[in-house]
Amino acid sequence: MTDKTATLSVGGKDYEMPVLPGSVGPEVVDIRKFYGQSGMFTYDPGFTSTASAQSAITFIDGEEGILLHRGYPIDQLAEKSTFMEVAYLLLHGDLPKKDELDEFVHMITYHTMVHEQLAHFFRGFRRDAHPMSIMTGVVGALSAFYHDSTDITDPQQRLIASHRLIAKMPTIAAMAYKYSVGQPFVYPRNDLSYVGNFLRMTFSVPAEEYEVNPILERAMDRIFILHADHEQNASTSTVRLAGSSGANPFACIASGIACLWGPAHGGANEAALNMLREIGDAGNVKKYVDRAKDKNDPFRLMGFGHRVYKNYDPRAKVMQQTAQEVLDELNISDPVLDVARELEQIALNDDYFIEKKLYPNVDFYSGVILNAIGFPTEMFTALFALARTTGWVAQWNEMISDPEQKIGRPRQLYVGATERDYVPVDER
Ligand code: CMC
Repeated sequence: MTDKTATLSVGGKDYEMPVLPGSVGPEVVDIRKFYGQSGMFTYDPGFTSTASAQSAITFIDGEEGILLHRGYPIDQLAEKSTFMEVAYLLLHGDLPKKDELDEFVHMITYHTMVHEQLAHFFRGFRRDAHPMSIMTGVVGALSAFYHDSTDITDPQQRLIASHRLIAKMPTIAAMAYKYSVGQPFVYPRNDLSYVGNFLRMTFSVPAEEYEVNPILERAMDRIFILHADHEQNASTSTVRLAGSSGANPFACIASGIACLWGPAHGGANEAALNMLREIGDAGNVKKYVDRAKDKNDPFRLMGFGHRVYKNYDPRAKVMQQTAQEVLDELNISDPVLDVARELEQIALNDDYFIEKKLYPNVDFYSGVILNAIGFPTEMFTALFALARTTGWVAQWNEMISDPEQKIGRPRQLYVGATERDYVPVDER
């Protein structure tokens, strides 16, 4: 707490508001009493200047391109940690000791199976359903199954719901994929890692043995780390808003999945690879860059730009390096990677992108890797959802245990008709 205040003058009257410091990053003007004192709302569509919560989970400095989870830089976590460890870190606040990590991994591993009844939900979908539509439906349906973990006032039940969500998401994502290609569902196996298990449930068939490639396992683990959490983004804010009413945790995560699907958010990884394929050849890049700059053309470079980062997205750097490693391991030379590199070079040296501070984001290179590993583009956003579930449950838990938490209820600037009398239909 500081004594610093901010004063807003409206029509000759001053309103003094406290300024609250964070541990790092911008201070905030506390406007909670402003409406009561002035009868005015503040206006901020898209929350470009509004802190919707206090949080101790993730810090982003968009100008400098810094991303910290519980204080740890993302590049250190991507290089040295594992997804399970990062999931624990997000949920509990500190890196686990060896026995804590073992217990956490055990807990997640033994929650990976889904209720057998849940398989019927998949069969209700068309085979060509987008995996994100299946994930939204099936994860929402979990709320009808696990009643012993839905008392959100009980921290232990919240933890069990969180473990279940982290554990079952790979099973559900893999089932969505299997359903789309008409192959049998593959049950999880407890002797494999979180990622190894997911790769096996996705790519193995009962007809033959499947061996997890350790390089791809590590690459996927890193991709999951890079997607684990990202502060108060659209889907996380959706989960928090849904959860603020006391809603069922599984339903809250389903709402996050629905929000993530959009092409401006998690859907950008699918859109980015489709765009790179459409460009096709490094020689065509300039044409697409010109289109992206044309005010009269709605085309945008997918995987470029970010609401918060006005610098290189630190996740994109790790992703670019991982892309090369995976292609080398698989001995693939994918022209799409050449197109991506050329596009990045041209855009980064172009005045339009420099002035608007548009840099590659996490989605720019992830598609190249996922494609090389063998995932169809429709699965990309489902993988994002799988990884982001760790952030969603961490943020949801933090919100529920925050004594300042209230139901989310934004106000509006009303611009519709003023009061008028009803006119019967034959008199209109
Ligand atoms: N290509 C061309 N121009 C762009 C792009 C782009 N990808 N992104 C922003 N701009 C321009 C935009 O036209 C606008 O120009 P002007 O000021 O002249 O009107 C200016 O830059 C600011 O854009 P904005 O839409 O006001 O910025 P925003 O903060 O509301 O949007 C964004 C951020 C991520 C939605 C946007 O950059 C975008 O649509 N990018 C492509 C989609 C994408 O890659 N999304 C993934 C984001 S990272 C993963 C995630 O969070 O899910």
